[in-house]
Amino acid sequence: MKNTTGFSDVDGSNRADELVDYLSLLADRLADHRREGYAMLRVAAGSSVLDVGCGAGEACVELARVVGSTGKVAGIDASEAMIAAARRAAEGTGCAIDLRVASIYALPFPDATFDAVRCERVFQHLEDPNAGLAEMIRVARPGGRLMASDPDHGQHGLALDDRAHHRIYAASLRALLRMIVNPHSGTRLRAMFARAGLAEIEQRVRSIPIAFDDYPRALFLPERLAAAVRAGEITPEEADGFVAALEARDRMGAFEANAIAYFVAGSRKAEPRGEEPVVG
Ligand SMILES: C[S@@+](CC[C@H](N)C(=O)[O-])C[C@H]1O[C@@H](n2cnc3c(N)ncnc32)[C@H](O)[C@@H]1O
Repeated sequence: MKNTTGFSDVDGSNRADELVDYLSLLADRLADHRREGYAMLRVAAGSSVLDVGCGAGEACVELARVVGSTGKVAGIDASEAMIAAARRAAEGTGCAIDLRVASIYALPFPDATFDAVRCERVFQHLEDPNAGLAEMIRVARPGGRLMASDPDHGQHGLALDDRAHHRIYAASLRALLRMIVNPHSGTRLRAMFARAGLAEIEQRVRSIPIAFDDYPRALFLPERLAAAVRAGEITPEEADGFVAALEARDRMGAFEANAIAYFVAGSRKAEPRGEEPVVG
């Protein structure tokens, strides 16, 4: 199984702490994008919400403030390290958040439990995204709202000066695609929601700028350059030269990179009403 980024099996990756830190860094940078997702989920005071693959828990804490004391927030994640971090994040917020270690493929909730179910940057790490979505739909109440968000790792942008660097970059992107289980997830979400029978599907697409200091970690630059070297597509010297060129651009104030994030929401169709009994 592909799991080079570690996110398909955080606890088995030998770098769970590093991945928890990485999520906290991104959570900081992605606060605006997360809020857009909450609007698509139509959460409000009193809503019950589930965050699937909640990671270090930032969204759960934010959602608990949105839904207030009459609402309910739950988060699940396959990783014990992530759930431990989410519990730390929830401590002291005064919000009761139900956090559990569980798989998206077997959500530990009865059918039709939640008004809203979200899943951010998780489908890209799933072998069977359709089965994951089916579980999310099962625990949403009829009429409830579902939202998933992911990038398409084939669409990352990076400003470069010459053809040689574009060739190295392309090799490193191919390596990134090989490292991720479902790398084009972002552009697959809308069709997946439609095939699953969801209604009122809405998609928003956002370009997310990535700063120079965040870039290596956010998009696994050292790992993907090393993988391209191992694949024989570039030499170690070319990899080093590429990093030096990015550093030079940053010194000029001309570093520019972005990821394209897809947000897709849809509603579980309301159950058809049964036939009214004929009285008389
Ligand atoms: C990139 S992180 C995103 C975390 C969080 N949603 C966020 O936006 O910060 C992916 C998360 O999905 C979790 N995950 C991966 N496979 C999973 C599965 N089968 N069931 C539940 N969680 C899973 C990982 O443990 C990790 O915390």
